[in-house]
Amino acid sequence: MGQVDETKQLVGEEVVKYIKDGMKVGLGYGSTMYYAVKKLGERVKEEGLNIVGVPSANKTAEWAKEFGVPLTDFSKVQELDIAIDGADEVDSNLQLIKGGGGALFREKVVAAAAKEFYVIVDGSKIVNHLGAFKLPIEVVPFGWEVTASKIAKFGCEPVLREKDGEVFISDNGNYILDCNFQKITEPEKLHNELIGIVGVVETGLFVNMADKVLVGKDGKVEVVE
Ligand code: 5RP
Repeated sequence: MGQVDETKQLVGEEVVKYIKDGMKVGLGYGSTMYYAVKKLGERVKEEGLNIVGVPSANKTAEWAKEFGVPLTDFSKVQELDIAIDGADEVDSNLQLIKGGGGALFREKVVAAAAKEFYVIVDGSKIVNHLGAFKLPIEVVPFGWEVTASKIAKFGCEPVLREKDGEVFISDNGNYILDCNFQKITEPEKLHNELIGIVGVVETGLFVNMADKVLVGKDGKVEVVE
């Protein structure tokens, strides 16, 4: 296992310590979350931890089933005690870019339903300004070219995400545009502008949502809040 993966495992396991008996837990998606779901499954089995999870992605649901984490959905619970998730970039105000894995819409719904939202990253995700990572924006397939040209007016060149030579389709049946803004100085303003464009489903800017960020570096975890 490489050093980055070891750090992802470290923070993924650390965040699970905040999960207490009886909690309803939002589960994000990504390679860091993989380790958190795995650890959560271990606590369920070994300690009899009594929790239910709401997954943000079909893949997260698969992991939860594999590791024995009981799942529920929003038809049964509408408020979660905590949501845990990875991120692609985190700035000093705890504003985030998410969506590298294409699950940003459900991740945002899950995080918004939670009383507390804890983010887990390796130190390389900490930035002075958001935007070096291309901002993922989920758009409806119909007329995506029109939506992309409207997004471009805000200062980027949107690129339609592909995977294995095919257009990437989100769990919601939508497309993702990766947008190279380079430097996002006002994330809230940019999010509000982009979300107003017809055809935009959600942006990967998670503004004023994170309560704690667990940052892994050199074998240690720092908690920023
Ligand atoms: C998925 C996400 C992920 O949380 C983000 O891409 C970080 O992924 P990883 O933990 O693999 O670095 O937003 O949509």
